[in-house]
Amino acid sequence: MNNNTFVHKYIRPLVSKEDLCVDMTAGNGNDTLLLAQLAKKVIAFDISAEAIRRSKERLKDYDNVEFINDNHINVDKYVKEKVRLFIFNLGYLPHSDEDTVSKAEDTLLAFKKAYELLNDGGYIIITFYIGHKGGKDEYYLLDDYIKKNRLQILETYSQDKINSPITYIIRKPNQKR
Ligand SMILES: C[S@@+](CC[C@H](N)C(=O)[O-])C[C@H]1O[C@@H](n2cnc3c(N)ncnc32)[C@H](O)[C@@H]1O
Repeated sequence: MNNNTFVHKYIRPLVSKEDLCVDMTAGNGNDTLLLAQLAKKVIAFDISAEAIRRSKERLKDYDNVEFINDNHINVDKYVKEKVRLFIFNLGYLPHSDEDTVSKAEDTLLAFKKAYELLNDGGYIIITFYIGHKGGKDEYYLLDDYIKKNRLQILETYSQDKINSPITYIIRKPNQKR
């Protein structure tokens, strides 16, 4: 099973029609589409205008999605409510030039902001493309941050091949009383 299939299977039981979810990398809209089917509302970011165009076209039958053509480091300017689940599917827009590739420092900043905006018991699902240019550095930077800060990694998933993408499922614990 590839990472996208794994992620979609994992997400289904986690999201309900009361939830706000955020797609940090809309791309072609595949993840946005799944979230739109499951959640009350989805906010979908992409730095690429072409990605936003493709995603809007893909989601044209859904009225519960807000698209934002901006760098996801600005997530806190737009998202003012607590979020059930964030998804990051890093790398670059398929069938496009590589200028859209995610950058390690931006990804780290966006990840930190996403964690702040998460509901207790909420999830961040992040997939790293370590075979892409800069992808390994991005993975090591985030992995280091996640481990140093003892964030809860519920699962990691990767196919057993060289340079396969790596997915982390991260959960923000419920506050202890
Ligand atoms: C692998 S694609 C995402 C695929 C998408 N999740 C789907 O289901 O089709 C990665 C996307 O991340 C976007 N991206 C890269 N850096 C970004 C940033 N800093 N802020 C927002 N989007 C970014 C790219 O433009 C690209 O569309």
